[in-house]
Amino acid sequence: MLKLSTTIGFEDVAEKEVKALIGGRGEQKRGFLLWEGGMEEAVVLNLHSRTLTRVGILKVRGRAKSLEEIARIVKDAEWNWLKGKSFGVESSRNGVHSFNSLDMSRTVGRAVIESCDFRPRVDLSKPDVKLMAYLDGEEFYLWMDTSGRSLHRRGYRAYEHPASLKTSVAAAMLLWSGWRGEALYDPMCGGGTFLCEASLYARGIPPSLWRTSWRFELPHTRALRPLPSFSCAELVGSDLFEKHVQGALKNCLSAGAEGAVFRANAESMCINFQPDLIITNPPYGLRIASKRVIKRLYKNFALACKKNAIAKIAVLTAEGRLMERAFLDSGYVVEKRKKIVNGNLPTDVLLFVR
Ligand SMILES: C[S@@+](CC[C@H](N)C(=O)[O-])C[C@H]1O[C@@H](n2cnc3c(N)ncnc32)[C@H](O)[C@@H]1O
Repeated sequence: MLKLSTTIGFEDVAEKEVKALIGGRGEQKRGFLLWEGGMEEAVVLNLHSRTLTRVGILKVRGRAKSLEEIARIVKDAEWNWLKGKSFGVESSRNGVHSFNSLDMSRTVGRAVIESCDFRPRVDLSKPDVKLMAYLDGEEFYLWMDTSGRSLHRRGYRAYEHPASLKTSVAAAMLLWSGWRGEALYDPMCGGGTFLCEASLYARGIPPSLWRTSWRFELPHTRALRPLPSFSCAELVGSDLFEKHVQGALKNCLSAGAEGAVFRANAESMCINFQPDLIITNPPYGLRIASKRVIKRLYKNFALACKKNAIAKIAVLTAEGRLMERAFLDSGYVVEKRKKIVNGNLPTDVLLFVR
């Protein structure tokens, strides 16, 4: 069984992608999928998935209210396969518990050691095997990580925008929007994540192309099977700041994306081409700009979309209500919506149509 981490709220998009990549069946949980499969499927997903952030091999699953119960279910599993390897445990929790994540890691580590016929070596900084434990209310999961660094760290970013979107979130949003190569424009493109992810997706380039390490040896057939590709119209981005325009161009170059990027204000959107889809992640008034500024920005952006007769606009923002108001006032309707958690922040994903 595989434990597949993804963005909270995009589990359905990840499920569709996983099904297309490895087939089989599974179930959706909050922020992850449990999917049938083993190491072979884990390798395919590590190399090819755009929406997953981590792939693990599930070792233990059960209900636990206390550390004692966690220890008991961990001891029920077989751990002698750790012979000759060092291991470390990392834990996280969701919900209210009378212990913290560090207590959980210690309990799991001790239970693993006590159930082995030998004394396994513990290494917390560079273990051969990284075990990851998660307690969601009373549901306990323990899996062996196969990904190493989170899969959203693709490795093509030459420029780190200060408020860049996770690549896996951008990819999930592209899949969710139904984009299949139509002319795409991001008028607040920052470091150009949408342009890069769209280009990789259309060309069938595995998102792992730039990565050099996982927690498994690469199979000799590294190329695996090619991903399907499709033809792609222009990918265009713009930003208010020249620094980000240059950064987005660098990222496009690094990702091999043929993206055109220029400096422009999304509030006026003077463009001489007709995008089929606008997809964007504007400022929310947290790290960049104030609430007053974003209210005006959202209003003028929606008006500019109307002026340019844009048929479809996908937006990701923590200020969904403000954005929805602006688009409804400009004569658009919400075709679909989602609530996701993006970097611990509840965030709205909205698709407006005329
Ligand atoms: C949240 S960031 C986008 C990050 C981007 N999705 C990425 O992954 O790098 C929002 C961007 O909107 C830009 N921006 C803010 N106001 C703008 C405006 N009026 N016109 C165009 N861009 C604007 C900012 O400079 C910033 O780069």
